[in-house]
Amino acid sequence: MRLFAAVLLTEEQRTAILTYQRALKKSVPPGERVNWSREENLHLTLAFIGEYPEAGPVIRALGRVEGEAYFLTLDGGGHFGDIRWVGVRDGGGTERLAGEVRRVLREAGIPFDPKPVKPHITVARKYRGGEPASMPEPVCGEIGAIVLMRSDRIDGRLTYTKIWEKKLDRHARDQKE
Ligand code: 2AM
Repeated sequence: MRLFAAVLLTEEQRTAILTYQRALKKSVPPGERVNWSREENLHLTLAFIGEYPEAGPVIRALGRVEGEAYFLTLDGGGHFGDIRWVGVRDGGGTERLAGEVRRVLREAGIPFDPKPVKPHITVARKYRGGEPASMPEPVCGEIGAIVLMRSDRIDGRLTYTKIWEKKLDRHARDQKE
């Protein structure tokens, strides 16, 4: 099975991204086939594990993650080639959490894509359009859990399913504020 560890957005943030996608759609020339990320697939990847025979060892490893809840603001955007993404401001929270996730995976001998973390949310693939302004206004939300996602192609549709989640520590963060 194809696995990755991620954090999910709040409902308000997902709705804001859908609105942004509608704005992007207006700049796509007729006839171009863009793959728009579906609302239920929106996420930020912490570590891409890829094909792995079973989820159990990954879940046991991720269970050892010690992470704090944090706030993440959707802001700005850009593209990697024809992949269009929305950017984030998070005080380094996503990178810290990804570092911790990668540490426990490494300790457990579970391989993952070692490319450095560049926190972003893919909103479209094969995007061919103009360069409309990025997210019209920042949208803040709390990241309160890490999740293990399974990626499948079902009837040709990329489908992500949450198979496990662990709440992040709110108490430690609140003590610091
Ligand atoms: P992307 O959105 O920028 O493509 C599931 O594929 C998730 O894992 C996506 O968020 C994807 O990022 C990310 N990912 C990271 N490394 C990947 C890789 N080597 N292959 C596929 N997806 C990868």
